[in-house]
Amino acid sequence: MSAVATDTGAATATFGKDLLGLKDLSAVAVTALLDTAEGFLEVGTRSVKKVPALRGRTVVNLFYEPSTRTRTSFELAAKRLSADVLNITVNASSVVKGEGLIDTARNIEAMNVDTVVIRHAAAGAPQLLAENLQSHVINAGDGAHEHPTQGLLDLFTMRRALGRVKGLTVVIVGDIAHSRVARSGLIGLTKLGAHVRLVGPPTMIPMGIERLAETPGSVRVGHDLDAALAGADVLMPLRLQLERQGAPLFPGKREYALRYGIDQRRLSLAPGAIVMHPGPINRGVEIAHDVADGERSVILGQVTHGVAVRMAVLYHYSGGQGELA
Ligand code: NCD
Repeated sequence: MSAVATDTGAATATFGKDLLGLKDLSAVAVTALLDTAEGFLEVGTRSVKKVPALRGRTVVNLFYEPSTRTRTSFELAAKRLSADVLNITVNASSVVKGEGLIDTARNIEAMNVDTVVIRHAAAGAPQLLAENLQSHVINAGDGAHEHPTQGLLDLFTMRRALGRVKGLTVVIVGDIAHSRVARSGLIGLTKLGAHVRLVGPPTMIPMGIERLAETPGSVRVGHDLDAALAGADVLMPLRLQLERQGAPLFPGKREYALRYGIDQRRLSLAPGAIVMHPGPINRGVEIAHDVADGERSVILGQVTHGVAVRMAVLYHYSGGQGELA
């Protein structure tokens, strides 16, 4: 186990060996990661988009689920820190020959890998890996559990667009039950002092979800989107995760769009709010075309910020600490 500390001035942020969820991080550690990402954001605007912070380190992306944004974002982040990166996607590996998760990972580790980034359909898979490997393990999304780097990039985007996270009112709309983005968002936001309104059909909001809040009373659950929009600073519609739902939880996409889609009329009920979406977007379902592409949308900014935030995460969880200067 390695633990590193970052002196943020006011308090010391400590990071464990692995990043499994925002649940495990202190507010100080979350803020330290966002601050580090702030420094890395500029690297992406240079003509030579590279710093030597992780030169000689090896990062493996082990993805057991489809992903475009998250995998490429981790890959770019590692490359911009000068680490060597290996991408393993399940269909092209021995997993199709029946190799178990721990055996696959131990074989990878035997090649002296520093950090394993894992996405898996099973909640808890990153934890299992972390308990069995010396390498650092970073969760890139596990089932409906957590997606900590998405939570961090969402916080980072809010901080940049609105100047703060504390005191913001964030409306998260949709399939909360299957959303690891919603869980990490809720945990991170309430850790930093924001208020969260979870809105969706009753079938998509698990009973007692508000108990995940880090501050009692900071999360409200509702089913009427129009009523939840007044005073919102951020609107975050989520994709209907039909591939995880089994039997449909709602009569159809058209009905869903009518009751829970963010369109111009609903946007006008939250004047001043920015619009975020973790992607992939289903245009015309949870978000209207002209809202996704509108001037209050920061959706592509989230993608840009994702690389900087993952650079910060890889830096802190690949032993790069102390070498940046
Ligand atoms: C999300 C995910 O995979 O959890 N996407 C992402 O990582 N940006 C959300 C989704 O699949 O809808």
